[in-house]
Amino acid sequence: MESFDAVIIGAGAAGLFCAGMAGQRGLKVLLLDHATKVAEKIRISGGGRCNFTNRDATPVQFLSDNPHYCRSALARYTPADFITLMQRHGIDFHEKHRGQLFCDRSSEDVITMLLAECDAGGVVRRHGCGVRQVRHGSGGYELDTAQGVVNAPQVVVATGGLPIPQIGATDFGLRLAEQFGHRLVTPRPALVPLTFDASQWAPFVTLSGLALPVRISTGKGRGGGDFLEDLLFTHRGLSGPGVLQISSYWQPGQPIRIDLAPGQDVAALLTQAKLGSRRQLGNELAQLLPTRLADTWLAQQGLPAQRPMPDCRDKDLQTLGQRLQQWSLVPAGTEGWKKAEVMAGGVDTRQLSSQTMESQQQPGLYFIGEVVDVTGWLGGYNFQWAWASAAACARAL
Ligand code: FDA
Repeated sequence: MESFDAVIIGAGAAGLFCAGMAGQRGLKVLLLDHATKVAEKIRISGGGRCNFTNRDATPVQFLSDNPHYCRSALARYTPADFITLMQRHGIDFHEKHRGQLFCDRSSEDVITMLLAECDAGGVVRRHGCGVRQVRHGSGGYELDTAQGVVNAPQVVVATGGLPIPQIGATDFGLRLAEQFGHRLVTPRPALVPLTFDASQWAPFVTLSGLALPVRISTGKGRGGGDFLEDLLFTHRGLSGPGVLQISSYWQPGQPIRIDLAPGQDVAALLTQAKLGSRRQLGNELAQLLPTRLADTWLAQQGLPAQRPMPDCRDKDLQTLGQRLQQWSLVPAGTEGWKKAEVMAGGVDTRQLSSQTMESQQQPGLYFIGEVVDVTGWLGGYNFQWAWASAAACARAL
């Protein structure tokens, strides 16, 4: 039986980074992945340019049932640390929007860098090598892999979340956690488009492809989210950055609230316009909203777009403004794991050390990255969690 100091299961963002760091600390590390092509999620991320971190990442941008858990790891491995690593490897990048950093060339640069870090640490990599079983045994843990039995005193689970099963996502890490007595926070798709019942959505289908900036919120207090971001109408519902952000907070049955004209007082502007404008209602509303949306909205409210402004009743204008700025609707569901960018929920952090990511139940067993119940906003935060949790673990191995 081959022996290692640590076996890391999953060669994605967290697993590759952890392996490189641990190897460079002098440990004999085995990194396993059942996929033949590693780091597929890095490859497809950020439209192929990998939004690899967010310059402004703080614990505020992360969701978890145990909200303070992520603080320690995020404080000890920061966006600036990862930027320094990128610079050391000569990888050019740029800031796109609100602190989001993307590769200038391709996400392949990040993968090449992580593999080079693994090589520098002498990491043994086995791809296309699934793990059938993990059990207590000689030297700590024994693993039945597709290429034989190995053992190690330390096992790191970095198998990611459930999104995009077609490129290798599995529930292996979640099942392993349960096998070793860990609780799970129920996994659910996050950063995912929201869908509506066909009949409820019928009036808006023609708006498919339309995008506009909105204020969008759901829930209240700690469990609630509130974003000023773009929204995109789709054939089945709503997408775009604002909706993806809110989807991570949304609970089935809950309404979402949308202000379609943020920063404006539509009722006051229309009432004022009535006094001086000879335009028709549809044209006046199209000064405040995209024309297609203005027309669809008026039709849906039963208000004639051709009505001259002076003929509009104040009460109708008030109601129109209020409904546009406090649009409340209950999604039927989400587009699910096939379209989700991350998994919310996962291994309950109340049974893990926030300093090292080690299990409090099973010494030598670690969980890092997306398999853990820590979920970042859209914008590079999920990779920052992968790097930070991997670093916390690698320092402790
Ligand atoms: P990750 O999924 O990266 O790796 C898990 C690895 O484990 C995979 O290689 C898998 O094959 C392997 N594995 C699974 N089961 C196994 C088993 N049974 N045995 C062996 N190996 C197994 N985030 C961000 O910050 N910026 C961005 O731009 C994007 N963009 C983006 C786009 C899309 C389309 C998606 C789906 C996701 C993103 N993300 C993102 C999220 C980001 O990709 C994600 O949070 C990280 O990759 C998580 O890193 P992990 O290492 O935890 O899992």
